[in-house]
Amino acid sequence: MQSLPIVGCSGHGRIRAAVLIQEYPGVNVTRTAGLLQERVQHIRVDAQDPAAEDIDFAAEIMKSGGLVAFPTETVYGLGAIAWEASAVDKIFRVKGRPPNDPLIVHIAAIDQLSAVAREIPDLACELGRHFWPGPLTLVLKKSARIPANLTAGLDTVAVRLPDHPVASALLKAVRAPIAAPSANRFSRPSPTTAQHVLDDLGDMVDLLLDAGPTTIGLESTIISLVGDSPQVLRPGGLSLEALRRFLPELGFSPHFLGEDEAALAPGSLLKHYSPRARLIVFQGGDDSAVRAAMRAEIAGNQNIGVMAGDADASAFSRLDVKIERLGKDDEGAANRLFAAMRALDQQGVDLIIARAPEKRGLGLAVWDRLLRAAEGSLVEV
Ligand code: TXA
Ligand code: MG
Repeated sequence: MQSLPIVGCSGHGRIRAAVLIQEYPGVNVTRTAGLLQERVQHIRVDAQDPAAEDIDFAAEIMKSGGLVAFPTETVYGLGAIAWEASAVDKIFRVKGRPPNDPLIVHIAAIDQLSAVAREIPDLACELGRHFWPGPLTLVLKKSARIPANLTAGLDTVAVRLPDHPVASALLKAVRAPIAAPSANRFSRPSPTTAQHVLDDLGDMVDLLLDAGPTTIGLESTIISLVGDSPQVLRPGGLSLEALRRFLPELGFSPHFLGEDEAALAPGSLLKHYSPRARLIVFQGGDDSAVRAAMRAEIAGNQNIGVMAGDADASAFSRLDVKIERLGKDDEGAANRLFAAMRALDQQGVDLIIARAPEKRGLGLAVWDRLLRAAEGSLVEV
């Protein structure tokens, strides 16, 4: 569990580069080994089997206090060694994240829980054994070793064990828990590709491990285990149905709070995951009525983007709109949602309209992200 001592300049090209990055943060350093001419700050790795030397290089940067953006099965994370308060502080600065919004700690194995949490209820172990590695985050009482800035001064810590070979390899290589929020600017859609990370954070990240698009596409489900009964704090990549089969009494009461109130309940900020364009969400069970309401909105505006599932998309195909398809089902929508928001922003639309999914399966998390991205702008049809 102890982090390794920092390895100094060994003459290995990559480690020399890591030291350079530390001395000149923000400078693009090319690999000095001469094998590859690309910039070191963006390394492509195999999603299933990343090269050990690339992972070791990333680990050295983290152990020198640097930030590494890396893929998980949900979204890309912006990681620092969790024990290093100053590196954790850098995460907040780079993201533009308010200090009252705590980070998630990632662990390599369930037995690392005891390093990050001081009380581990049986339920935490049972949930961990059943759902980890995977898109589930547990909020527990924090251990003394977790720096206060990581948890925004709270006595609790959010922990997850990700299911991605690159994240696992990195966690094993640094031999320490990794603090990592999603690698986007605060309140922007979470990044599901390395390009999204570059678009938001550019060279403020010391190294980006690019393993292609993430598979789930939205963030983990967060459950608090510190109250009287287990509560869902954020619906996400693990469905409530799957969780309730295991834990029938699991509670969920969604909060959509303004800036002042949200400080007391981290993660419940209404404005979040937002594209630059305004977003309006349409909701209703009658397909043709909902499509008609969306077409009426299109008719009254210019420069519009539509995010639509395959079943709805043809209703807009003859109109003067930019369409981003969300696929055939809720898994497809979860996977495409943030990328679609970013793609429409890049096409310069002023307004995006979308249809709310049914609040079941991954549809619940898609619904939650859409509502926050729209800042509550919901049209009931
Ligand atoms: O899938 C994910 O969870 C991704 C990947 C990178 O692991 N991470 C992620 O982190 O979404 P972030 O920082 O974007 O969202 C973390 C959420 C925030 O809403 C934060 O308020 C909540 O977790 N959170 C963290 N610590 C908490 C705590 N002690 N109590 C309640 N909520 C907490
Ligand atoms: Mg985030």
